Amino acid sequence: MITTPPELTQAQFRKLADIIHADSGIVINEAKRSLLVARINRRLRILDLQDFGAYCQKLDGADGAQERRHLLSAITTNVTAFFREPHHFDALSSEILKPLMADARAGKRVRFWSAACSSGEEPYSLAFTVLEALPEAARHDVLILASDVDPQMVRRAEEGLYAEDAVRVLGPERSQRFMVRRDDAYAVRDDVKAMLRFVELNLHAQWPFTGKFDVIFCRNVTIYFDGEARRRLWQRFAGQLNEGGTLFIGHSERVDGPAAELFELVGTTQYRRNAVPVQTTAS
Ligand SMILES: C[S@@+](CC[C@H](N)C(=O)[O-])C[C@H]1O[C@@H](n2cnc3c(N)ncnc32)[C@H](O)[C@@H]1O
Repeated sequence: MITTPPELTQAQFRKLADIIHADSGIVINEAKRSLLVARINRRLRILDLQDFGAYCQKLDGADGAQERRHLLSAITTNVTAFFREPHHFDALSSEILKPLMADARAGKRVRFWSAACSSGEEPYSLAFTVLEALPEAARHDVLILASDVDPQMVRRAEEGLYAEDAVRVLGPERSQRFMVRRDDAYAVRDDVKAMLRFVELNLHAQWPFTGKFDVIFCRNVTIYFDGEARRRLWQRFAGQLNEGGTLFIGHSERVDGPAAELFELVGTTQYRRNAVPVQTTAS
């Protein structure tokens, strides 16, 4: 028997798009309608629901908050890779890490943040680069925070288990140094993991930080946000970076709006926080 796929009404589309926007800042416009349908269809099958009306009811029900997290996981795009946009890691090794590692050796606190870490390839690439610059970094006050709004991605990042295909780009030297073979996959070594902390964090919510960062990676995520949310985020990153700290963003992103005067563009999508104070009440 041929079954017709359920239809998404305009009211349901708006409701789902509004929930996603409220929870993550991600904009779902008409152009993304078929993507939304495909991704939520998968949830319908998993939950054994007949149509989108039943799904909307579930979102309004007692376990609605839990389902909203699944909805976010379903809708986020998690494409990533080890050493993606390698010029950023080159900039770290050639200029940024030298003074920071001297600070670490002198007992100072050094902090990195991968703010949309997906399945972990980005923060681990950061860790490998730091360890190449300072092999004993884990013995100093050096930490990498890896966060993402998608709980499934945070779990995968923390697990640190990667298929051979994903690891190939590391080459034999790095993979032998930083990974261990586990069955037909590769696991990040525990001594590397010791430098990282993983947390589920929505960039548009409150940030639980007490201190500032020296380097922030926020790459290939603001492209999914509307202009206002994106500009607010630049402002908040400026407030969260030490003077002279670096913000790396994705290849098709740029710092715009009032925050542009808080940064100097010093490389390809690489910004240095200047001394201009942040004026707004960024949290
Ligand atoms: C395309 S991946 C980019 C991963 C990595 N930064 C890179 O460039 O390879 C985008 C990631 O942003 C996350 N994301 C989307 N909205 C977010 C939000 N509001 N707060 C935190 N992370 C978010 C998604 O879950 C996804 O893992």
